[in-house]
Amino acid sequence: MARPPSMTNPLVFFAPSGKRGRFPEGTSVLEAARKLGVDLDSVCGGRGICGRCQVEVGDGKFPKLGIVSAPDHVTEWNAVEERYVSKRGPLAEGRRLGCQAKLCSDVVIDVPPDSQVHRQVVRKSAAIRDIAIEPVVALHYVEVREPDMHEPSSDFRRLQEALEQQWGLKDITAPLESLRLLQWSLRQGQWSVTVAIRHKREIVGIWPGLHEQGVGLAVDIGSTTIAAHLCDLASGEVLASSGVMNPQIRFGEDVMSRVSYVMMNPGGDVELTTAVREAIAELAVSVTKEVGLNSNDILEMTVVANPIMHHLFLGLDPTELGGAPFALTIDGAYQTRAAHLNLPLSSGAYVYVLPCIAGHVGADTAGVVLSEGPYLRPEVSLVVDVGTNAEIVLGNRERLLACSSPTGPAFEGGQISSGQRAAPGAIERVRIDPVTLEPRYKVIGSDLWSDEPGFDKAVIRTGVTGICGSGIIEAIAEMLLAGLITPDGVVDGAMAARSPRIEEDGRTFKYLIREGEPRIAITQNDVRAIQLGKAALYAGVRLLMDRYGVAAVDRITLAGAFGSHIDVKHAMILGLVPDCELDKVGSAGNAAGTGARIALLNASARTEIEDVVRRIEKVETAIEPSFQAHFVGAMAIPHKSDPFPHLEAALGVTFKRGSGDGEGGGGRERRRRRG
Ligand code: FES
Repeated sequence: MARPPSMTNPLVFFAPSGKRGRFPEGTSVLEAARKLGVDLDSVCGGRGICGRCQVEVGDGKFPKLGIVSAPDHVTEWNAVEERYVSKRGPLAEGRRLGCQAKLCSDVVIDVPPDSQVHRQVVRKSAAIRDIAIEPVVALHYVEVREPDMHEPSSDFRRLQEALEQQWGLKDITAPLESLRLLQWSLRQGQWSVTVAIRHKREIVGIWPGLHEQGVGLAVDIGSTTIAAHLCDLASGEVLASSGVMNPQIRFGEDVMSRVSYVMMNPGGDVELTTAVREAIAELAVSVTKEVGLNSNDILEMTVVANPIMHHLFLGLDPTELGGAPFALTIDGAYQTRAAHLNLPLSSGAYVYVLPCIAGHVGADTAGVVLSEGPYLRPEVSLVVDVGTNAEIVLGNRERLLACSSPTGPAFEGGQISSGQRAAPGAIERVRIDPVTLEPRYKVIGSDLWSDEPGFDKAVIRTGVTGICGSGIIEAIAEMLLAGLITPDGVVDGAMAARSPRIEEDGRTFKYLIREGEPRIAITQNDVRAIQLGKAALYAGVRLLMDRYGVAAVDRITLAGAFGSHIDVKHAMILGLVPDCELDKVGSAGNAAGTGARIALLNASARTEIEDVVRRIEKVETAIEPSFQAHFVGAMAIPHKSDPFPHLEAALGVTFKRGSGDGEGGGGRERRRRRG
C-alpha cells in the first residue's frame, strides 16, 4: 500500500522565515518558496538568468527541526547554473540558484538577505530604524507568444496573458507611453521583454529581453539646493547622489521673496515651476549618467519640499502661502505621471509627493517624521529642522504635534556681521579658553584647529572667509562659559580689562575671533540676532510641550543640513533646545531626503506617513498668546528660568539666570518669516 504523500514528500524548512512544508520530489526551491509565501526574489521567473533567487542549502543535523540536511538533498548543479556562472561569474560558496535546485529529500534552505525582496537597508545610527524594502515597482521578465494568423490577438493581449500565466498578475494595464514601446521591445527582444509593474497593476517601463535593475529617484527640493539620490529599487542602495543650487534663487533668495515675485509678475509662477522642473530633469540625467544609465530608466520618483517649493514644483499657485491663514491647495500626498511634469523619466513613471503637514510645515517635515519615526516610540521625542524657519515636531506614538517658528536667517549666517553660509573657508567650530580668553577655531575644509601646526597651510586654498551658523552658535555658547557675555546676551565691556579681544564697537562691545583679512568678530548685534532666532525656536518648542503636557523631553533630534553641523552641547548651552540627557540628543543629517528615499523604497511607508500626517495636531504659533511669554524667557542664555539639570551636570557648572528682557535692544522684536 502506498504511503500517504505527506510521508514521502521531502520536507523543506526555510530560514530565516521559519516557514516549512512538504512538496513532491522535483519541486524547485523557488516554487516551494512561492507556495509557502517565503520571500525569495526572482526577475526572470525561474529561467536561471537573473541570479536573484540564490539560496544556501543547509549541511548537517537540525535536531530541533527534525531534519538532516545535505547539499545532495537537492538536485545536482545543472547546465543552466553552469551557463549562469560562465556568463556572470561564480556564485558565493555553497550557493545554488533556487529555481534550478530541486527537492530530493528533507532540506534546510537559507535565504540570504540579498535574495529577499523585503530586505532591510541598514542605517548607520542605532537610534533609527533600518529601511525595509517593499517595492512599489517590480521587474518581471516574460516570454510572450508570437503573433499567429490562426489565433489573432494583439501584442498587449498576449503580454497580459503571459504575465498572468508566468507571474499570476491579472488585468495589468499600460499607459499609452509604455504601449508605444511595446511593439518594438517585443520584436527586439525576440518575444521576451522585461516589464516594470507598479503596485502589481500598471506597466511603467518596458525593455527588450532581460533587464535586471530598476532604479528610482528621491528628490529633496530645498529653497537653496535641490538634492537627488538615485536608488536601486531592489537593494535600496544609493547608486549616485547629486545636488544643484535651486535655480529659483534668481527670482528671490528666500521663499517669501519668490512668492512676492509670483504676486508681482503675471506668469511668474510658470517661470518658477519651469526652473525647478528643469533643474530636477538635469539632475535625473546627471545621476543616471554617472552609473551608466539613462534618465528614462528611472521608474519612480519621490519628492519632499517645503510648502512653497511643493506648490511651485506641482505648478500650484503659492501666493496663498505668503500670508495668513497660509492655506495649502492640497495637503495630502499626491502622485502624478512624470510626463505630466515634463520630467524625462521612464515611459509610465510616477512622481509621488509626500504630504504637507500645514501651510508652513511641509512635505520635507513629513520626510523627517518618516525618517525619524517619533510616532513609533513610547518616549516623547522632539524633532527640530532648523533653517530660516524652524519646523518643530513633538510627541510619541500616542500623539504628535507640529508647528513652525520664524527663526530668521541668522542660523544660516544672514544678518551676522561676518556671517556666511556653510562653505569651505567658513569657521564652523570655536573654543574659548576660559582663563586666557583666547579663541581657537576650525574652518570647513580642514581638520586642524587654528592653533595647531600646519593650520595656515591647510587653509591656504580656502582662506578663512567668515563664520557659519554652527560657528556662531559655538562662539556665543563659549562666550557665555568664559564670562564674555552675560546671561542676557550683553557683550561684557568690563572684560576688556582681561583681554584685548574685547573691543569697543560704538556704544557696545565685540569679541575678536580672528585678526586679518577679513577680521572676524562677534558683535553685540550678532548675539542679538542669534538670541532672536533661538528664542523663537525655543518658544515654539515650549508651546508644543505645554500643549502636550510635558515639562521635559526624552530625546531630541536636530535635522537638516544645519542641524547636522551643530554641536549638540553648544546648542543646548545657547538654549536652542530644552534640557535633555546629552546622549539622547543627536543630529539626523538630511532626514527629509532620507524620508523621500524610504517612500521610494517602501510602499507601506507611504500609507504610514499619510496616516501619521493626518493625525498630527497643527499648532499655529502666531495666534498662541503664550508664545510671546515663552519668547521673552528664551531670550536669556540659556534661559531665564527653565532648568538645565542634565547640561549643568555634564558641564559641572551652574548657569546664572538672565532677566530675559532682551536688555541691549531688540529683545521684544519678533519677525515673521515663512517657508
Ligand atoms: S529566478 Fe532568475 S535565476 Fe532563478
